[in-house]
Amino acid sequence: MQDSIESAIDIILKSKFAIVFTGAGISVESGIPPFRGEKGLWNKYDPDALDLNNFHLNPFDAWKVIKEIFYDFFQDSKPNDAHLVIAELEQLGIIKAVITQNIDNLHYEAGSKVVYEFHGNSRKLVCPYCGKKVLAAEIDLSNVPLCESCHAVLKPDFIFFGEGIPEDAYRNSVNVSQNADLVIIIGSTGEVVPAASMPQLAKQYGAKIIEVNPEKTLFTDSITDIYLKGKAAEIMNKLLIGIKQKI
Ligand code: APR
Repeated sequence: MQDSIESAIDIILKSKFAIVFTGAGISVESGIPPFRGEKGLWNKYDPDALDLNNFHLNPFDAWKVIKEIFYDFFQDSKPNDAHLVIAELEQLGIIKAVITQNIDNLHYEAGSKVVYEFHGNSRKLVCPYCGKKVLAAEIDLSNVPLCESCHAVLKPDFIFFGEGIPEDAYRNSVNVSQNADLVIIIGSTGEVVPAASMPQLAKQYGAKIIEVNPEKTLFTDSITDIYLKGKAAEIMNKLLIGIKQKI
């Protein structure tokens, strides 16, 4: 493992345009369960709660589950060391952008500036009809939230199954993936597309791939060059210490 850490540090220091691609696993050490795996949310909740048609047909039932999953438990989650290291590597000019599948806002709260939220962000609610957005923290979610302007049921500002990827996030993610010479993948199974196609696109354009995950994934034996087996916070701290010793 130490050899791999050293090799990863060398590749990171040689990179000219490194980006990070994160999945739910980077937020596990912030207390937010992943979607898949042993303690995955989809083992406890039906993903249909996040189906767009189901939401429009049964908004009151859907909101009960959405509130429990995304607001009751996670509202107070804080960035962990992995998020903080990524923000520090951006300040050092090493990381140019983060593409995240996560909707928990923790990269921004850790201080990252260039973050492309491929699946949106749970901190805001949006009216599906007039597009008005409000901060979820300012809304009493004990009742189903309604738009002040048109009284439609508000929806979290993240994408549901059956919904398209936010255009800006998609366009920017493709752009940085095509320009990256290094992608650090942290905490993603690689099972969710089109998000998982971003590291694959970068690989096609010649990028090196470093992967941080306690388990192997769909990326590991296909596009990963250096697989760092371990938890995000522990590995990212080791990388930062090594990088700082050499810059
Ligand atoms: N550090 C790093 N990785 C971890 C950790 C940890 N402490 N704990 C778990 N993991 C890894 C798991 O091994 C797994 O590979 O994080 C991944 C979590 O899997 P998923 O929850 O499926 O995450 P991801 O692949 O990002 O898919 C999430 O699925 O339902 C959709 O849109 C939803 O964005 C969401 C996407």
